Amino acid sequence: MTNPNSKNVALVTGASSGIGAVYADRLAARGYDLILVARRADRLEALCAQLSKAHGIKAEAISADLTKDQDLARIETLLATNGDVRVLVNNAGIARLGPAAQTSADDAQSQIALNITALTRLTQAALPAFVARNQGLIINIASALAVHSLPISAIYSGTKAFVLQYSRGLQQELAETGVKVQLVLPASTATELWDLSGVPLAALNKNTLMTTEHMVDAALAGLDQGETVTWPSVADATLWEKYDAARSELFANTQAGTPAPRYKIA
Ligand SMILES: NC(=O)c1ccc[n+]([C@@H]2O[C@H](COP(=O)([O-])OP(=O)(O)OC[C@H]3O[C@@H](n4cnc5c(N)ncnc54)[C@H](OP(=O)(O)O)[C@@H]3O)[C@@H](O)[C@H]2O)c1
Repeated sequence: MTNPNSKNVALVTGASSGIGAVYADRLAARGYDLILVARRADRLEALCAQLSKAHGIKAEAISADLTKDQDLARIETLLATNGDVRVLVNNAGIARLGPAAQTSADDAQSQIALNITALTRLTQAALPAFVARNQGLIINIASALAVHSLPISAIYSGTKAFVLQYSRGLQQELAETGVKVQLVLPASTATELWDLSGVPLAALNKNTLMTTEHMVDAALAGLDQGETVTWPSVADATLWEKYDAARSELFANTQAGTPAPRYKIA
């Protein structure tokens, strides 16, 4: 039996653990060949071997630190030149949670470099070929914290707010093309991110935690249903519509050209 996706490649960043590893599995199950990117080569190679065997696909592991310019440039080149890449999952991300005044410059910088700069540069590298082919899918993993800041998440929330606005802008630019951008905003998901973030996973309320499998399967179900913005844990989908309508109304009201009457400027 021929596999309809046999020449289609999905590149998943941050595939060595957590959400990215499940994306790799689910995309392999859908017949995609894989390019898996993260720093831990041993984990990537083990996952590649497991998924090639389980799903009969080709999988390549590429060790890269996406906060390092040279490594990022290698993956940009690959995306710009490998015409088989049909799907880019921008999943690699880190959180370093704590009051901003106590956050080191390195911790601030690494969150911005990975969550914003790498995601943007990889997307920009993939887009020209996707647009030229009028086909392609970019899945950007943001966070529920894209619309919410906690006293310990000012920088992380800021990086994810960027992912939200960048993805929404791209969706408008690409609306008339065959290139899709899905924005995914997970809430707490049980992964290694937490212990590395400074807030241990064990400290979270278990009732608010989703498994990685549920998170990714819900996000892919949303994709299959044609969603462009997916909130995997939000039961009432109209909440996003209301939020977005309020945002749009607020923006329209900024276009007045005069100070608001409450400022009493003559
Ligand atoms: N877990 C949650 O509650 C949650 C909620 C909302 C959104 N998210 C988002 O989901 C995405 C995936 O995170 P996760 O929860 O699955 O965490 P995770 O298990 O820690 O996975 C993070 C992935 O990013 C990779 N990574 C980290 N630093 C990197 C670097 N400098 N260069 C390249 N790859 C790097 C890690 O691999 P290496 O260490 O091998 O490089 C790992 O594969 C992130 O964007 C995160 O912000 C998570």
